[in-house]
Amino acid sequence: MEKLTGLKKIKTAVFISGTGSNLKNIIKFSKIKKSPISINLIISNTCLAKGLKYAEQFKIKKKIFNFKDYNKAEKKILILLKKEKIEFICLAGYMKILSAGFIKKFGKKIINIHPSLLPKYKGLNTHSRAIKNKDKLAGCTVHYVAAKLDSGKIILQKKVKISARDNPASLKKKVLKQEHKLYPAAIMKIFN
Ligand code: GAR
Repeated sequence: MEKLTGLKKIKTAVFISGTGSNLKNIIKFSKIKKSPISINLIISNTCLAKGLKYAEQFKIKKKIFNFKDYNKAEKKILILLKKEKIEFICLAGYMKILSAGFIKKFGKKIINIHPSLLPKYKGLNTHSRAIKNKDKLAGCTVHYVAAKLDSGKIILQKKVKISARDNPASLKKKVLKQEHKLYPAAIMKIFN
């Protein structure tokens, strides 16, 4: 791939459902010269996502989709992605599962960050499960999104030590700190 100069960055959409700390981190990363991506669209499945405030803060287009009818919502998202010429999707705490049809129809790269050392602990409550199992290590994974949940090809992982004093909340904090380093590193790895 041609080296990117910052003039022609890859148009990216970030999908969120919650706090948006990864979103904020990716937006900040996208603004540095060496970033291969620009953030052009923020999508959420709920108006309650706190991270939507970053759309206003950074003047990025946002759109909230109602998922009462899953198929309809995904169809509408695909139309918007096409209209905005989005070439790359980053899921960042997005808690809906993209359908196989959506992944196929978008046809370009989609990546996700997951708060565990995949293939361990797919799905929810990763930190409490790791503590309950007396694991010594937790961590996070950036991976391609495939039709099967949390099972796409791994791009990068970062390990975090679990101490005897950790509880799910403290572990979440520790892992999140590493997520903020890992996501930009994974994006750099993909496009450079
Ligand atoms: C992050 O820990 C992310 O890894 C996780 O949700 C959190 C979102 O935090 N994602 C998943 O569990 C996806 N299955 P954020 O909204 O502050 O970025």
